[in-house]
Amino acid sequence: MSRSSGPLTISKSINFWESIWAEQGTKVPWARFSPEPLLVEYADQTKIRKALDIGCGHGIDASYLCSIGVQVDAIDISPTAIELARKVDKNTNYILNDFINHEFTNKYDFIYDRGYLGSCANKESCVKKVKLLLEENGKWLTLIGRKDGNVSGPSRYTLTETLSWVEQDFNIIEVTASVTLNNSNSEKISLWKTLLEKKK
Ligand SMILES: C[S@@+](CC[C@H](N)C(=O)[O-])C[C@H]1O[C@@H](n2cnc3c(N)ncnc32)[C@H](O)[C@@H]1O
Repeated sequence: MSRSSGPLTISKSINFWESIWAEQGTKVPWARFSPEPLLVEYADQTKIRKALDIGCGHGIDASYLCSIGVQVDAIDISPTAIELARKVDKNTNYILNDFINHEFTNKYDFIYDRGYLGSCANKESCVKKVKLLLEENGKWLTLIGRKDGNVSGPSRYTLTETLSWVEQDFNIIEVTASVTLNNSNSEKISLWKTLLEKKK
């Protein structure tokens, strides 16, 4: 178990995320009711066989990947989020656990996260674990909260910060300053669309 992902850190993390999901359900501020357009755009252009969605929340993106024929594992630390996901999607393999400590049996040609890396306390462990779980030439699409003009706050980062976490282990295929919308399409969330390929 890594130093900063010990039992105390994990239980704090569970409490933090579970309290938000338990209180707000699908009204959490970042959630969508339709799949993330940046993921759809990628999946339209690329054949994905086996995918992992990290920090899958209520499963909207994992269930989309599953619906287009991808074999999907999806993990979240919040029991409420996983319960919500399992209710609407019986075909994705939803896993209730901490990503860093979970012992995966699969490897993937595509790993996706929308907001997990940005909010993760131990970015180094996360990046190393994603690398370990990707097949050769595997791709990682990670959507990371972007510091944007006067909008800043938790889990929002500059391009320099974002690249510093990943460039040792991944080739940068694309980084684009982008936006996403939440459920009601009322709030624009600035993010880095970051597409990475595992280094050999
Ligand atoms: C910003 S939310 C994004 C949720 C979802 N991807 C979406 O776009 O709606 C981050 C998610 O990561 C989950 N999470 C946080 N720490 C985690 C961990 N250590 N292992 C697995 N999931 C985690 C949270 O419960 C939360 O659902």
